[in-house]
Amino acid sequence: MSGTAPITTLTLRKMKREKQKISMLTSYDATFARLVDAAGIDIILVGDSLGMVMQGRANTLKVSVDDMAYHGSCVTRVVERAHVVVDMPFMSYHVSDADAVRNAGRLVQEGGAHAVKLEGGAERAEVIRAITNAQIPVMGHIGLTPQSYHVQGGFKVQGRGDAAADRLMRDALAVQSAGAYSLVLEGIPKELATRISEALEIPTIGIGAGNGCDGQVLVIQDLLGMDQGFKPKFVKRYAELGGLISAAVDTFIQEVRSGVFPDDEHSFHGRRRGGVVREALLSESSPSKKSGYGPSDDDSDQSASA
Ligand code: KIV
Repeated sequence: MSGTAPITTLTLRKMKREKQKISMLTSYDATFARLVDAAGIDIILVGDSLGMVMQGRANTLKVSVDDMAYHGSCVTRVVERAHVVVDMPFMSYHVSDADAVRNAGRLVQEGGAHAVKLEGGAERAEVIRAITNAQIPVMGHIGLTPQSYHVQGGFKVQGRGDAAADRLMRDALAVQSAGAYSLVLEGIPKELATRISEALEIPTIGIGAGNGCDGQVLVIQDLLGMDQGFKPKFVKRYAELGGLISAAVDTFIQEVRSGVFPDDEHSFHGRRRGGVVREALLSESSPSKKSGYGPSDDDSDQSASA
C-alpha cells in the first residue's frame, strides 16, 4: 500500500477487502529495517529464521525470547511506517497460556512488536485466544512450520493429498476463529493456499504457497541473493548481493595490502595555522543524525583531529 500513514491490522484487513496484495519481508536489524521500511514494505517480520540467518544455526529451535525481543527492538527503533510482527520462538507459547501471554507481552514491551506470530493450527487456538484477549494481535502460521522440524521430518511441503489438505483448511479456520488477524501459509500447494485464502476473512501471507494468497513474504537475505549456496524453489532472487559483497571485500583486502586504502581523500588532515578555513573533508558524507556514526571533521570532535 502506498502513502506514509503507519500500516495497522486494520489497514491489512482493508487491503484484503480491496484486493490489494500485501508485501512482507523479514528484517532483524536496524540497517535492513530502515531500507525495507523506506522502500514501502507493508509488514516487516522479525522472524525466528534469524536462528539460521543471524545465528548460523541449522534450524529455529534454539532461538529465545531474549533474542526475539533484542532483534525486535533493533527493528522497531527505526521503522516509521511498516507494521512490525515479531515471532514467538519455540517453547515460548507451548507450556501454558499464562506463560505465552507473558512472553508475547515481552515482545511488545521490550521488542516494540505491533503483533506477534506463532506457529500451529487448531491445537493453538486457545493460546491465540489468550494472547488476543491480552490485546496483542496474533498472526498465525500453518503448513510448513519450522518449529515442528522434528515432527515434520525437516523442511517439507505440507498439505499434499485430500486428508492433509482438509486438515490444513480446518486449521486455518480454527486460527481465524480464535482471533488471529492474519495467517502465514508456508510450503503448501498453490491450489490449497488459494482455497484457504478465499475461505478466510483475514489476510493470508504466502511463502512457497503460490500467488493465490493475499500477500507474500520472503526472507530479505534470500531475495537479495546473499547466500550463494541457498537456492530453494520458492525464492526468487531479485539481486545477487552475495557476489557483490565478496568482490567488494576482496578489493578492500587487496587495497589494504597494497596501501592504496586509505588514500588522501579518506584521511583526516591537520589544521593550518593562522585561522585559515580548512576544507571539511567529510562534509558531503558526514553522518546524518538518523543513520550514521563515526568521527566527523568538525571542531567539537577533537579525537578525530590528525
Ligand atoms: O521466521 C521467518 O522468517 C518466517 C517466515 C519465513 C514466514 O516465519
